[in-house]
Amino acid sequence: MRPGLAGLAAEMLSGASGRLRPRLGSLLLAPGTRTAPQPTSSAESPRFRSTSSVQGFTELARERSKSVTSFYNQSGIDVSAEKASVRLTLATLLYSGKSPDGHHILSSAKYLHKELPVRIAHRIKGFRSLPFIIGCNPTILQVHELYIRAYHMVSDFPQIKDQESDARFCKLVQQLLDDHKDVVTMLAQGFRECRRHIQDETLIRSFLDTTLCSRLGIRMLATHHLALHEENPDFVGMICRRLSPKKIIEKWVDFARRLCEHQYGNSPRVRINGHVAARFPFIPLPLDYILPELLKNAMRSTMESHLDTPYNVPDVVITIANNDIDFVIRISDRGGGIPHNILDKVMDYHFSTAEESAQDPRMSNNLFNNITNSGNQSSPMHGFGFGLPTSQAYAEYLGGSLTIQSMQGIGTDIYLRLRHIDGKGESFRV
Ligand SMILES: Nc1ncnc2c1ncn2[C@@H]1O[C@H](COP(=O)(O)OP(=O)(O)O)[C@@H](O)[C@H]1O
Ligand SMILES: [Mg+2]
Repeated sequence: MRPGLAGLAAEMLSGASGRLRPRLGSLLLAPGTRTAPQPTSSAESPRFRSTSSVQGFTELARERSKSVTSFYNQSGIDVSAEKASVRLTLATLLYSGKSPDGHHILSSAKYLHKELPVRIAHRIKGFRSLPFIIGCNPTILQVHELYIRAYHMVSDFPQIKDQESDARFCKLVQQLLDDHKDVVTMLAQGFRECRRHIQDETLIRSFLDTTLCSRLGIRMLATHHLALHEENPDFVGMICRRLSPKKIIEKWVDFARRLCEHQYGNSPRVRINGHVAARFPFIPLPLDYILPELLKNAMRSTMESHLDTPYNVPDVVITIANNDIDFVIRISDRGGGIPHNILDKVMDYHFSTAEESAQDPRMSNNLFNNITNSGNQSSPMHGFGFGLPTSQAYAEYLGGSLTIQSMQGIGTDIYLRLRHIDGKGESFRV
């Protein structure tokens, strides 16, 4: 969690958008200034010992009821939640063209201004339908309130008519992207905290799949709109006209190797083969989420299956296959494979063997804890058991798939399959 969020958390928990602040000092210290029911003696009512604590209870109750009310009386949200979301194909986004007078930017802003409240309201409805005990978890509540706040900020924004109002809208969109950047980590934490209260595993899966994919969609649209303002001949908004899978893989290989070296003192070499020269229009954003997760997993298993020979480890091999319907990225490691008994669990949210391997005495340099605790050097998801399920959900949301072949005793092959934007197959919608 980034610094400052704890403060924000306290603010959010005390009532939506900081309208209510718990006056903790006054709850504990302030002398009674209002009349409250007075116990005649401490024997009659042992709970009330002093006037100030009576006032404390009253205020607390009042604060609570206000904060609970902020989850009701939200007729705007109810109305938006009933509307259908308008999902666009990427081909539409790609070919909607550039107008010299910036008309395309204004229509994009108008679309986003109308679409965001609907999508956010759908998410709020999702939070409201969570079982009580989960919805009450402070971290999950905090995310719920972030969505409520975002809803009001976007729907209160006046109609976008010109460049000037679009510029202000862009600022708002950027601020919301920043405010929500830790949401995945927060949900991972929140659900981990209340996991023991959940009997129905499918409930978590469907809530997280829907919430995370919807978030990805919202972030893609928001990023697209902001990027439309930039002059980059290779891009139309967030869509790269000539994306090279090899280049983007190399970028994340560098990232994962650095992490791995920090962690284990060395990292496997990575060889890329297949259609290395392929280039086509695609969006880097989902690949920027998925590739680091898969590469970290491949490197971790390689290093941990060779802890006695860390300077002599087998390569990770990546193969790219491109065709006119989709493209496939296969990541093959020789990290011993995924054991039979956990193979059907690795796609579950929160399933991770990170803690077990941290117990290995050969990992005694304690660096591993850095990664599981999301220290500076690590990306925050490691150790939450979110890498595979999230990547699979994203791939499927984009009309593709993520599948695993484990050769127990040798290694693992992961196949990431994604549909082309303008391929022969049916186009997916964002
Ligand atoms: N390439 C791989 N080789 C062996 N095991 C793997 C591989 N990828 C994933 N796993 C197993 O699947 C588990 C879940 O992976 P993931 O969802 O990325 O969560 P995390 O990396 O946080 O543990 C890992 O803890 C590991 O046990
Ligand atoms: Mg992982």
